[in-house]
Amino acid sequence: MKRAFLLIACLAAVSAYGQKFDQLALTPPMGWNTWNRFACNVNEQLIRATADAIVTSGMRDAGYMYLNIDDCWHGQRDSLGFIHPDPARFPSGMKALADYVHSKGLKLGIYSDAGNKTCGGRPGSRGHEYQDALTYAQWGIDYLKYDWCETDGLNARGAYTTMRDALYAAGRPIVFSLCEWGNNKPWEWGKDVGHLWRTTTDIDRCWDGVVNHGTWSSQCVLRNLDQQKGLRQYAGPGHWNDPDMLEVGNGMSVTEDRAHFSLWAMVAAPLIAGNDVASMTRETAEILTNKRVIAIDQDSLGIQGFSYAVRDSLEIWFKPLVGDDWAMCVVNKGQKPQTFAFDWKQETVVDTLTARDAKFGSFTYELHDLWLNKEIGTTRRSLKADIAGHDVLMLRLRRK
Ligand code: GLA
Repeated sequence: MKRAFLLIACLAAVSAYGQKFDQLALTPPMGWNTWNRFACNVNEQLIRATADAIVTSGMRDAGYMYLNIDDCWHGQRDSLGFIHPDPARFPSGMKALADYVHSKGLKLGIYSDAGNKTCGGRPGSRGHEYQDALTYAQWGIDYLKYDWCETDGLNARGAYTTMRDALYAAGRPIVFSLCEWGNNKPWEWGKDVGHLWRTTTDIDRCWDGVVNHGTWSSQCVLRNLDQQKGLRQYAGPGHWNDPDMLEVGNGMSVTEDRAHFSLWAMVAAPLIAGNDVASMTRETAEILTNKRVIAIDQDSLGIQGFSYAVRDSLEIWFKPLVGDDWAMCVVNKGQKPQTFAFDWKQETVVDTLTARDAKFGSFTYELHDLWLNKEIGTTRRSLKADIAGHDVLMLRLRRK
């Protein structure tokens, strides 16, 4: 009897702590993060001004919900080990900032690291996981990005699980973003631990190739995209592959920004903008708030798209959508314009993951160009379209 009681008590304890908040991020998280544009230059004015701009630009209404402060917000730990924000950068404190962000109908995210120090050399959470989780919950934090610098000797799955348990014990639903750059195949174990996991090294504001920083490298958009291939079976509602945050508005050309955004939507990536929202151009705002493209990313089935074919400099992607629709994105990876020709009846588009067959031979689909916002025909006639260099053709195929 005693033993049975003990067993039940143990099981209850395990079920109380051994889990993540499972009703969060049922579609890929959307928001904004300080790092890509502002790096360590973070302060409360920036977060407040960005919150205001996210509302006035229409980004909030388009779905961008999380305002995430990345590295370098930290001050010191006090004598009891509790972390405090940098008093010069965040004089009003995090609770007041969270209240402000919440008053705008948005949510606040923060950043920490599983190791002793963050990548920017600020205090990490190692040995303080439960204390930090409690602090974040008290501040009203809604999202935690958890990095992997200074983690010598740590087991990734174990370290991320410790923080998951700490967040769950603290009791406030917090989206948990795993950022160990794909080093330990987080897609194989991340589903039960967090809501999204980075699959690559850091993104950079360039089209293709690698940028060498001496001790580490960042990658251009197409490199990070390529690394999503082979991972689609691991993604779904509540658990996503993360090819890193958006560089839209940070210096690439408008066509490159548009292509980057479209392709992130095709692979059901988290859409975390990384630009200066308060001073963005009209073109950048139009890309980030294109609701038709966002709907591809946010489709409730949560199926990551796949690369169907590569033809010359063109790569053709498909993504199954709710209601027998499909998204199609053709990216011109080269600099020269290309004419894309596609005879639907000759193509066999099957999603091997869900066994869904587009059956272009028997079904007809209407073609909606998501950037022109225009019907451009149906699959009864073969498609011909010019695609500029470093640009995309992005379509929603509506089953008739
Ligand atoms: C790592 C992460 C980045 C960013 C920086 C902050 O490089 O991958 O996304 O958070 O640390 O220092």
